Amino acid sequence: MSTRPGPTSRRVATTGDVEVSTYLEIAEEKLGQTTVPGETPKGGDEAIVVLDFGSQFSRLIARRVREAHVYCEIFPHNAPREALERLNVRGFILSGGPASVFEDGAPQLPAYVLDSGLPVLGICYGMQLLAHSLGGAVEPGLLREYGHAVVHQNATGHALFEGMDSSMPVWMSHGDKVTVMPPGFSCLGYTENSPVAMMGNDAGVIGLQFHPEVVHTPSGAQLIQNFLYDVCGCGGLWTPGNFIDESVARIRDQVGDGRVICALSGGVDSAITAALINRAIGDQLTCIFVDNGLLRREEAERVVGTFKRAMSINLIHVDAADQFLDALDGVVDPEQKRKQIGETFIRVFEDVAEEIEDVSFLAQGTLYPDVIESTSHETGAAAKIKTHHNVGGLPAAMRLSLVEPLRYLFKDEVRDVGLALGLPEEIVLRQPFPGPGLAIRIIGEVTREKLEVLRSCDWIVMDEIKGANLYRQLWQSFAVLTDTRSVGVMGDHRTYGYLAAIRAVTSEDAMTADWARLPYEVLAKISSRIVNEVPEVNRVVYDITSKPPGTIEWE
Ligand code: XMP
Repeated sequence: MSTRPGPTSRRVATTGDVEVSTYLEIAEEKLGQTTVPGETPKGGDEAIVVLDFGSQFSRLIARRVREAHVYCEIFPHNAPREALERLNVRGFILSGGPASVFEDGAPQLPAYVLDSGLPVLGICYGMQLLAHSLGGAVEPGLLREYGHAVVHQNATGHALFEGMDSSMPVWMSHGDKVTVMPPGFSCLGYTENSPVAMMGNDAGVIGLQFHPEVVHTPSGAQLIQNFLYDVCGCGGLWTPGNFIDESVARIRDQVGDGRVICALSGGVDSAITAALINRAIGDQLTCIFVDNGLLRREEAERVVGTFKRAMSINLIHVDAADQFLDALDGVVDPEQKRKQIGETFIRVFEDVAEEIEDVSFLAQGTLYPDVIESTSHETGAAAKIKTHHNVGGLPAAMRLSLVEPLRYLFKDEVRDVGLALGLPEEIVLRQPFPGPGLAIRIIGEVTREKLEVLRSCDWIVMDEIKGANLYRQLWQSFAVLTDTRSVGVMGDHRTYGYLAAIRAVTSEDAMTADWARLPYEVLAKISSRIVNEVPEVNRVVYDITSKPPGTIEWE
């Protein structure tokens, strides 16, 4: 097995909604007017199907498989066989789930799983379902077993255990358990409370009572990788390079001679979407970058510099600052700000897009988490497309087909692809920035003056955070300009200036976040630079609120 890639290090999950749409509602409304092309990702020449039985960890299972360089997709447990036909399936993983096999209406194992003769890994409920379906016995647990346990191997030398210690800490979360194994199965591992914590047969059908996908099972990633390579015979072909080659071919296939437009925000997802499509069809792509006047210092220049000059992408740079600031005139309410910005974006985008002839495709940076969220797990219905956050709504008058090359990728895979495409780290590894930009970091009315003040504060925060090598450890770090003024003294003079707040958070997915314990010296430096270099600000505070109950942005 020396040729296979080593286990990839566990990375911090970055799959969440990073740039949640301001314009989501408007854009979803418009989506009814678009057509969604049939997509047929090949996923290298091998794929694993994760059948979701309702576990909160299904997505984690998929991530672990992808981290082992094997393509996989999550399907609802009742997905019809035809839904999997476009994939070259090498094995199945059955997730856990909240049900008990004894309940009426408990999710069943689709017949095609065992009929296929392919290896199957059943996790928790998935294991109980295997036992139940194959003639073993499952008993309701009187007590839930929840938390840490230690599994001892019962079958050293099994392919599943390559490179692993004979005992391993695992994480359990189950009520029912397997008490009699189905015919042909042997016990591969046990814990103090579960005599059959792992079972398997010669056909590569394996059950695990514990959760190998969570970080609390430290050798879980290795176990999953062993299943993929040594039981399913996968080769680990899912790499950014292969993805790019496949994706380029697919985009060419879909688009033919057609023209594609793409709204570029400067954020990670739209940037990488544009770079990938540019690699595939070059001049047939036109990107539209709407400068809403709410961007950070030098941001517009950087986007134009990277995409137009360095990558020679057709880029229309629209300076629409006046339109946005007019729309925000006198607006104080945060939701009203979002609405005004969203509507203005659509108007501006539409005007520009209408000038481009023969457009039939709209590129969007939709990611896999969006697709999973919008797939109905109840019915197994085809995915309803949810608009991507970066695109501020779709042109109302146009009927466009969507090109969504990142639709099967997690956020960290997108970043890997961006790096493999040669995009600068500065773009690929940047912190999220909200669509409404600085408008939701200025409390109260947005004016040109306040925007300039905030840009100066923000610049100092970034400079110091990067200087202290903290940028990549933080989910976001930025300044907020409040509408509070306070009295201060500088030299012998009384001052009456703005209160600026610093916000720096750690997070895995923006759904929850904690305030970052920034070193005092860094905070001190930021504070002293702001009050010295930004004359309108005379006081700086640090926001020590987690999310919940706070949000990351102040508005
Ligand atoms: P909150 O402030 O809700 O933010 O904790 C969670 C994440 O979403 C970003 N955010 C937005 N992104 N439009 C966007 O594109 C918005 O209206 C918006 N509001 C918040 C925020 O920066 C954080 O990463």
